[in-house]
Amino acid sequence: MYDEAFWNERYANKDYLFGTEPNSFLAEHCSLLSGPVLSLSEGEGRNAVFLASRGLEVLGVDLSTVALEKANQLARSRGVEIKTMVADLATFVPEENHFGSVISISAHLPSTVRHRLYPLIERALRSNGIIVLESYSENQLLRNTGGPKDADMLMTVDKIRQEFQSFEPVLLREVEREISEGEGHTGLASVVQFIGRKKA
Ligand SMILES: C[S@@+](CC[C@H](N)C(=O)[O-])C[C@H]1O[C@@H](n2cnc3c(N)ncnc32)[C@H](O)[C@@H]1O
Repeated sequence: MYDEAFWNERYANKDYLFGTEPNSFLAEHCSLLSGPVLSLSEGEGRNAVFLASRGLEVLGVDLSTVALEKANQLARSRGVEIKTMVADLATFVPEENHFGSVISISAHLPSTVRHRLYPLIERALRSNGIIVLESYSENQLLRNTGGPKDADMLMTVDKIRQEFQSFEPVLLREVEREISEGEGHTGLASVVQFIGRKKA
């Protein structure tokens, strides 16, 4: 249901669906990141452009060609460079031992896709590399403020513990917070936030 056609249609409007400002959890913790940064499900570029403006090299991967065209447009308008790649995370294989950091902001994926991808993410990070993830939690199903209506695509603290077992957790919590990210995500939301470090 949440396939390329779904996302291309959602992004078809010239406005930025999730705004042009970075996710605030990412912005708060960006000093932990080193490059190159791999951004999973980058969307229309708000996070990649923010990180590039802080001097980081960023590769944004997304299923949607429409989203990545808008991401490149946003980068040009802000005078920064980002790299983008249209790819389905169900089959994407990141370069091994290459990235200083990975970000996963509202990159809601089915468990079958996550279970294949996350070990590849660990392999793609250098030693001590960092992952910063924010996802709607399963409790978000009780709200109408954004996110997929499918528990399998939503996270819990336990799912993170299971799926990132080999990482050293720097921060792991579920919180309720006000989100204001364009018309796509707006209002009080339940999210899981995770920062993990790949062990040396
Ligand atoms: C809620 S949006 C978040 C976009 C961006 N991370 C942000 O915070 O603005 C989810 C994104 O996931 C992308 N996506 C969904 N399934 C995907 C898949 N299998 N592979 C790559 N990208 C996918 C969509 O195209 C969409 O851009």
